[in-house]
Amino acid sequence: MTTRSAARRHEPDPSTAPSPPPRDPSRDPARDPSRAPLVVTADPALRDELLRLAAAAGVTPEVVAEPAAALRSWTRAPVVLVGADVAGALAGLTPDRRDGVHVLSWGTTPDELFRSAVGLGAENVAELPRSEGWVVEVLTDLGEVGRPRSLVVGVVGGSGGAGATTLACALGQVAALDGDTVVVDCDPLGPGLDRVLGLDGDDGFRWDALCQTTGRLSARALREALPRRGTLGVLTWYAGAPAVLQPFAVREALSAARRGHDVVVVDVPRIADPLVDEVVARCDVLLVCTVATVAGIASAARVCARHDGRATLGLVQRGGHLDDRDLTAATGVAVVGSVPHQRGIDEAIDLGLGPVRFPRGGLARSCRDLLARLGSIDGAAA
Ligand SMILES: Nc1ncnc2c1ncn2[C@@H]1O[C@H](COP(=O)(O)OP(=O)(O)OP(=O)(O)O)[C@@H](O)[C@H]1O
Ligand SMILES: [Mg+2]
Repeated sequence: MTTRSAARRHEPDPSTAPSPPPRDPSRDPARDPSRAPLVVTADPALRDELLRLAAAAGVTPEVVAEPAAALRSWTRAPVVLVGADVAGALAGLTPDRRDGVHVLSWGTTPDELFRSAVGLGAENVAELPRSEGWVVEVLTDLGEVGRPRSLVVGVVGGSGGAGATTLACALGQVAALDGDTVVVDCDPLGPGLDRVLGLDGDDGFRWDALCQTTGRLSARALREALPRRGTLGVLTWYAGAPAVLQPFAVREALSAARRGHDVVVVDVPRIADPLVDEVVARCDVLLVCTVATVAGIASAARVCARHDGRATLGLVQRGGHLDDRDLTAATGVAVVGSVPHQRGIDEAIDLGLGPVRFPRGGLARSCRDLLARLGSIDGAAA
């Protein structure tokens, strides 16, 4: 589902790059030689600098000076840092295409280096010393590479007020009982998911802060910077501040969220907007929360038609008792679950408890069933 851009000049701003988070020893790649990053350079100054940055990130790379010798670890290493001095020669060996290749140069980048970077399938070309903070981020992030493929679930209302935001938060609360989960607020006109989850008093990062950062966002840095309760984090806007979705921040945040969490739930707004379409395309599954009224179903059919083909779609019926086959006939989309009308939900939210007040209640049970079903849908779609 991820897209790769052609090699581009990477110029992170060191003053705004997030500082490396503390290390979690249980995920330390330095303790697993098969997870060591690969550094390919014959330039002693570049090698020493990269060893210094690796030490700052708490990893021990494998360093290779000969391009041909680099091929042995090329596909196995979680990340490959290629020095400008050997990039051309290595590209000439046409190594297999893989993710996580970065070309590094001292000072300004000569044009021919970009050709070599494209030949290597590199994600970017970074200049040292200005990008050193970014290099530390990339290396620090290695602890996340071994995370099993995460599930990204979008939730959109079939009609206004259908319960999409509530369902997104409830799914997040239930998923967090089993692993790292983040609920991502992509609705600039919504209530703010930190409020719905009772995390609005937490100082963590909001979209506003993420929009200030440049360069690649570390999965761990994002996870640890967000407002959170236990294993549940939330990404939203400050209350009352104008809320705008920025393409760069959305792409980086969703990518880092997927790398750093087991489940990502996205509250998708009901607006026809190319950036929202892109958000949907980054989801494995889009749940369309539908109320069983004539207007609710007619509106849901339109929402389904808009997002048809962007992600696997599934209908969730809220509080109704319409036959699944009738809903599917009207919308062309399979019903994957239902959520009950839960009494006292607004009170639970007002109390800061989130919509799932009781882990054994009907809403929690529906969300658990839904998540179990989505795991198999995702597996089938992958
Ligand atoms: N399962 C539920 N049981 C009871 N009430 C619910 C349920 N889901 C949502 N609600 C209530 O319905 C109202 C609208 O819910 P919500 O904000 O989640 O809908 P939405 O689809 O996100 O709306 P919008 O179109 O504004 O984005 C809220 O008052 C919420 O508490
Ligand atoms: Mg909403």
